[in-house]
Amino acid sequence: MKPGDSLMRHYLQFKDLRAEEYGHLFDRASIIKRRFKNYERYQPLADRTLAMIFEKASTRTRVSFEAGMYQMGGSVVHLTTGDSQLGRAEPIEDSARVISRMVDIVMIRTFEQTKIERFAAHSRVPVINGLTNEYHPCQILADLFTFIEQRGMDRRGAIDMDCLKGRVVAWVGDGNNMANTWLQAAEILGFTVHVSTPSGYEVDPAVAGIKDTGCYKVFKDPKEACRGADLVTTDVWTSMGYEAENEARRAAFADWCVDAGMMAMAKPDALFMHCLPAHRGEEVAADVIDGPQSVVWDEAENRMHVQKALMEYLLLGRIG
Ligand code: CP
Ligand code: NVA
Repeated sequence: MKPGDSLMRHYLQFKDLRAEEYGHLFDRASIIKRRFKNYERYQPLADRTLAMIFEKASTRTRVSFEAGMYQMGGSVVHLTTGDSQLGRAEPIEDSARVISRMVDIVMIRTFEQTKIERFAAHSRVPVINGLTNEYHPCQILADLFTFIEQRGMDRRGAIDMDCLKGRVVAWVGDGNNMANTWLQAAEILGFTVHVSTPSGYEVDPAVAGIKDTGCYKVFKDPKEACRGADLVTTDVWTSMGYEAENEARRAAFADWCVDAGMMAMAKPDALFMHCLPAHRGEEVAADVIDGPQSVVWDEAENRMHVQKALMEYLLLGRIG
């Protein structure tokens, strides 16, 4: 493939795929997960190589992509800023031209979204966003699959995408990459996000990249945001790259800790999610994240299953 090839698809933001394509991905993730659990070999990516470029730290993203690619029969090259020429000012466009001549697919975790867009514009192979300052689409893919597993899947693993329609997701915390991606997902898949952030940390619909603001409602009081929610979710107060703001954020976010009181405002069967890593006693109380409504471990594991479905789709197209 060549840069700009119309057959080639990147996954740089959640809105890069349509609702119907998400239905397909979740179906495939369900099948791929079941095979994994049954120790059934499934290696459609034999001889394919994934390059993973990390300009920020990671546990889940690295392990899920790396293990997932090996399980599908492929192999992985792992690069960081510190151990490659990326950290020595080689232009991102040149890195893209070179790396994409040697591998079949690339995952990047970096700072500004414009950086991954510049890479993708010069890449011969599909590029996946493994987190930028603005978005974290692979995480929301896993979160939605986890919600569907809990609320919209029958015993045989058949998916009901309609289980997302009309739902309320409460976002409590920073108007960050996760919040922006939730808004894109709500717009595409037909649910509403109740957003509560401290003042100065609001979501910006232009940055979130949504067409209109009908998919979310803003609440000053985080408890009110949780009222009637089907899912309550949060994230760290200080995202990677914003560490200099740590102290100011600690003060500003003090009332945005998801605790039992907030969960009590949500529906009795509401789920709790957190993309992890978590800080117990800051953005979430220990009894919530470690409590019965929390699905954070499934959420983390599902990163691998949905990303395997995503790589399969971007490299092989529609299977099944
Ligand atoms: N949730 C997530 O992306 O985790 P890592 O930073 O560990 O990859
Ligand atoms: N918002 C967090 C997510 C970490 C997975 C960050 O960007 O650091």
